[in-house]
Amino acid sequence: MGIRENIESIRAELEQELQRLDDVKQLEEARQRVLGKKGSLTALLRSMGQLSPEERPAAGQMINAGRERISAMLDERLTTLKARERERKLEREALDVTEPRDLPRLGVAHPTSLVLDEVLSALTGLGFDVVEGPEIELDHYNFELLNLPKNHPARDAQDTFYVDDNIVLRTHTSPVQARTMLSRKPPIRIACPGRVFRADEVDATHSPVFHQIEGLVIDKDVNMGDLKGTLDALFKRLYGDDIETRFRPSFFPFTEPSAEVDLTCISCRGKGCRMCKGTGWIEVLGCGMVNPKVLTMCGIDPNEYTGFAFGIGLERITMLRYGIKDMRLLYEGDERFLRQFR
Ligand code: DAH
Repeated sequence: MGIRENIESIRAELEQELQRLDDVKQLEEARQRVLGKKGSLTALLRSMGQLSPEERPAAGQMINAGRERISAMLDERLTTLKARERERKLEREALDVTEPRDLPRLGVAHPTSLVLDEVLSALTGLGFDVVEGPEIELDHYNFELLNLPKNHPARDAQDTFYVDDNIVLRTHTSPVQARTMLSRKPPIRIACPGRVFRADEVDATHSPVFHQIEGLVIDKDVNMGDLKGTLDALFKRLYGDDIETRFRPSFFPFTEPSAEVDLTCISCRGKGCRMCKGTGWIEVLGCGMVNPKVLTMCGIDPNEYTGFAFGIGLERITMLRYGIKDMRLLYEGDERFLRQFR
């Protein structure tokens, strides 16, 4: 076989092989078999030593030309194979972003927390500071400083958990008023949220643990109109401009005069419904002008300063806000109930 035929048969065989193989590694092996140290074309080049000096240049040229063609053929195939491999890799690694996944289960805010946030944000918007106090409280702050001396009949209204003679679980957030008056100078404008405790039986509207938000404002010339205006602004902000407040005379030892506050029923907007028992009004809080005796006991001169205070039952307005009929739902932690408040 002449050199030309030899080259041609090597080339043709390689061409066929290249069509069959389909990865880069196989291609490089094929390249070695032809162009490598022990490759068939390299062997052909070596065999030139047996040719006569006259024949050599032409043979050398032929072999070199064949080498270039074969090289080009290999490179072209290599490009194709590389592209194909890349494509396969992309396919293998593709993410199906539409595939449904098990998401981590996220908790939700408790409805009482949602309403607390709303009330506090409305109150801080009106210039109130948020202040907290201890849940285990001295009788002194919970009662005495609020004009509820030992053996006073008004103490009966609050069924108290006593730790000992002088320590109670606070029955309301009002002791935070007393603590703040003793520690800050007027003007004072505070909102005090927190847990309170009473020895009540559990039913649809009672719980031994519940929450209140206390408000207290002390300054020069503060009057009942400011109290009404503040509560009006608060509830309009919370529930809408059509909501009004109504004061009814009441009694608390720590305020004089005292009032019970009704709100336009948020469910029927005043028309009368089951929630407001047909009256169009719902009771939401107690309030009044801070009793001068309380101011004096807490180190504030009642001739110089006056103040108002109010105490909101948080569960009560949470129930009104969401139309919840049984208070127990707020404590049981039933996910079917809680997941509705996303
Ligand atoms: N502390 C009262 C209670 O628990 C609520 C209350 C009424 C708070 C009148 C006040 C107030 O600050 O002025 O029933």
